[in-house]
Amino acid sequence: MSNEAELLAPDIASIVEHKHSLEPLQLRQVFGQFATGVTIVTTGSDTGEAVGMTVSSFNTVSLDPPLILWCIDKKTGCFDAFDRCKHFAIHVLSEQQDELSSLFARRGVDKFSDLGYHMNEYGVPLLHEYCARLQCTLTARHEGGDHVIMVGRVDAMHTQDRAPLIFHRGHYARIA
Ligand SMILES: Cc1cc2nc3c(=O)[nH]c(=O)nc-3n(C[C@H](O)[C@H](O)[C@H](O)COP(=O)(O)O)c2cc1C
Repeated sequence: MSNEAELLAPDIASIVEHKHSLEPLQLRQVFGQFATGVTIVTTGSDTGEAVGMTVSSFNTVSLDPPLILWCIDKKTGCFDAFDRCKHFAIHVLSEQQDELSSLFARRGVDKFSDLGYHMNEYGVPLLHEYCARLQCTLTARHEGGDHVIMVGRVDAMHTQDRAPLIFHRGHYARIA
């Protein structure tokens, strides 16, 4: 054990020793301790089709200018559509929308057929049910390992008075 590791508490020391061999499954479990909300992010494809996916990596960045971010896995089926998009919308889901979240996390299914939505002036699908809805213009993309970090400026926002859906340790939860 290095001198540095001996000075630390035992559990921290073990993390220092294993920092080069972090298993993806363990990482997923540890990252899952961080409770988040759940969003559906939407955009339009080059051919005008509605595209969307479930995203929990959404977060706020700045009030002035109003900036938000979210991260997209480079392996997702809709990566190309989001990589090319100039506009997208974030829908913060309510506690009644856990099934919708699961639907939008599934690959190769028709996600929009039974859903109330309309397209905005940029061809971005806007869902009619949400806690909060943010229409955004993409301002930056940053490399983030196997993900890309998407930064957007908020152009318009709406809220509905509903309790949010929570995601924690791989399960949906509600605020008590
Ligand atoms: C609760 C939850 C949160 C998720 N968060 C993200 C995320 O932040 N970024 C991401 O790339 N995928 C995330 N996913 C996975 C995508 O929703 C999933 O890969 C989806 O199938 C992508 O759509 P596509 O395969 O039709 O392109 C999440 C899934 C769930 C259930």
